Amino acid sequence: MTDATPSSDGQTLTVRDDRTGKEYVLPIVDGTIRASDLGKIRVSDDEPGIASYDPGFTNTASTRSAVTYIDGEKGILEYRGYPIEQLAEKSTFLEVAYLLIHGDLPTKDQYDSWVHDITFHTFVHENIKSLMQGFRYDAHPMGMLLSAVGGLSTFYPEARNIHDADTRHLQIVRMIAKMPTLGAWSFRHAQGKPYVYPDNDLSYAENFLAMLFKMSEAKYEADPRLVKALEVLFILHADHEQNCSTNAVRSVGSSQVDPYSAVSAGIGALYGPLHGGANEAVLKMLRRIGDVSNVPAFIEGVKAGNERLMGFGHRVYKNYDPRATIIKKATDDVFEVTGVNPLLKIAVELEKIALEDEYFVKRKLYPNVDFYSGLIYEALQFPPEMFTVLFAIPRTAGWLAQWLELVNDPEQKIARPKQIYTGGRGLTFPSREERWA
Ligand code: CMC
Repeated sequence: MTDATPSSDGQTLTVRDDRTGKEYVLPIVDGTIRASDLGKIRVSDDEPGIASYDPGFTNTASTRSAVTYIDGEKGILEYRGYPIEQLAEKSTFLEVAYLLIHGDLPTKDQYDSWVHDITFHTFVHENIKSLMQGFRYDAHPMGMLLSAVGGLSTFYPEARNIHDADTRHLQIVRMIAKMPTLGAWSFRHAQGKPYVYPDNDLSYAENFLAMLFKMSEAKYEADPRLVKALEVLFILHADHEQNCSTNAVRSVGSSQVDPYSAVSAGIGALYGPLHGGANEAVLKMLRRIGDVSNVPAFIEGVKAGNERLMGFGHRVYKNYDPRATIIKKATDDVFEVTGVNPLLKIAVELEKIALEDEYFVKRKLYPNVDFYSGLIYEALQFPPEMFTVLFAIPRTAGWLAQWLELVNDPEQKIARPKQIYTGGRGLTFPSREERWA
């Protein structure tokens, strides 16, 4: 029996249900079948159809997207079709943010007005400052950032009108503009230093560095090599298609909540050690290893399953993460200014051993973006807790590009996965007297 119409290009998957002997022809479009077509495969009309079981969405496409392309086998990453290597070398973070949000590179006028608008919106309401000052002296900056971004939704209630294009655009500009301010303040907070207001004469990266490090000088002047390195790091982290935090933004955004709330969900997802928190974990791991001579014993522990080699492995890349190659190069530029981070030796040795070891080779585990980024961040004087904030700031552009795509996609629905229920059924509730007798 044929239960689905073949796609226009004629590619189909024929499935035979051995319970009933029926055959179903499912259209294959872009290498996928529709999960709803599986739902048509059923034993009888009063029983649910077949569903796919996919914890962690390892083989499930949740959207059609034109934002970011990854070929994990070949180690390719492109934003809107442009290879990451070219963007890192030739572009600026704000130009890349424009590209992600708008889908095309800007003309000169579009670029100038985009940079002007972002710069114009860098300040935050003073009450956001009070909110941040209310945190404990040792608050994790990601917790502060998450709360502050969520809090912004209360300052811009019109953001709830997600169906209006101009309103959406204004919130996108605001969020990209304010993230460095909030990120820098979460850093100053733990140090007990006064929060520094934005300096709108400076570029995006320069202004961020000024808000982080400025003390009594009239004008903060950052070393241009560090500014360039930060721009590159921002570009590399700007988007990465349907990763955990982007999925969180899309999932929460699918309820049609305002974008501040959706992005704060993304920040929450990024906070975790298996995602954006991995570079913090890498640094802690390198410190714990302590010396190159301890590397072989550490690797043995990883292979015995005692722990993971943080900064290695990726759900998508089964080859060298292209971002890791660029970051490794950037470490040289940064260390030229700051002096070499002694942990670099341990990292290089770990990489050398792991890339030759059968355990890692067989599982296709290569260094990912987080393996070297922590070393640069530390050289720039950031404590490990700040590393994920440095990821969240540029990723905001990607989250918002993906959110915009979600809002404009008529096929999208509120995210609501199925489950396979494994608990008890129809139990009779015993009274407390009976249970506790
Ligand atoms: N060290 C040792 N073994 C590993 C590692 C690792 N870092 N990563 C994966 N494996 C092993 C894992 O034990 C499993 O082995 P086996 O087949 O014998 O059970 C196999 O490789 C497959 O691992 P998995 O957990 O099924 O793979 P996944 O796709 O679910 O996990 C990952 C991807 C990134 C969570 C994982 O590689 C990991 O935990 N890496 C360390 C944390 C890390 O560096 N995260 C940053 C990711 S890049 C930044 C970002 O984009 O978020």
